[in-house]
Amino acid sequence: MKLNLIERLITNNPIRAFSQRHIEGPMLKNMAGRDKYQLCLEIGCGRGIGAHVIVKEFGAEKVIAVDIDPNQIEKANRNLKSPYKDKIEFKIADAMAIDEPDSKFDAVFSFGVLHHMEDWKKAVQEASRVLKSGGEFFFEEPFRSFMDNFFVKTFTKHPEGGKFDYEEFRKELLKNNIGITKMKRFGNIAIFGVGKKM
Ligand SMILES: C[S@@+](CC[C@H](N)C(=O)[O-])C[C@H]1O[C@@H](n2cnc3c(N)ncnc32)[C@H](O)[C@@H]1O
Repeated sequence: MKLNLIERLITNNPIRAFSQRHIEGPMLKNMAGRDKYQLCLEIGCGRGIGAHVIVKEFGAEKVIAVDIDPNQIEKANRNLKSPYKDKIEFKIADAMAIDEPDSKFDAVFSFGVLHHMEDWKKAVQEASRVLKSGGEFFFEEPFRSFMDNFFVKTFTKHPEGGKFDYEEFRKELLKNNIGITKMKRFGNIAIFGVGKKM
């Protein structure tokens, strides 16, 4: 589901970019099982900061970064400069139906995206399908109780199918052969972490 105006303002701003570059990226890299990930997919890439982080922090040689919203992809392409230009490809695509073959990627990244899906389980299924065995799924997501708080419900718009709690999330990943290897959980608010495909 595309972002509403308030969420576009929350997402596409310098503070969010700073946090992705200097806090979230390094924090997830600390949880990584490897030094480098050659071929990576990012789902829901927004205006593209995450893809830059994947190249810089995770040593990716190539990142395919997809978003359902053509305006976000246009922004991402506008911000794409050397030396990242040779390594990142932005595409319009639905994370619930990824047009990529099975077992292609060394890592899949989802920076705050599953809670925007009409069916988050489908996106997890797709992430697992395109991951190589031994590949890693990096995620950062808010939980249902956060999504259902007054301010989030009043000022932003999210699909019911994108809500889950920790146990639902953990079990769904396991059902798709992804075991969480490292995580930082903020109570019932949010989770940052990585899982490995068995
Ligand atoms: C909260 S934003 C996060 C953007 C970026 N990852 C970041 O951390 O700044 C969620 C993004 O997911 C995209 N999105 C929502 N549903 C999607 C889907 N089904 N497939 C791909 N992208 C989707 C939205 O257009 C939006 O750019």
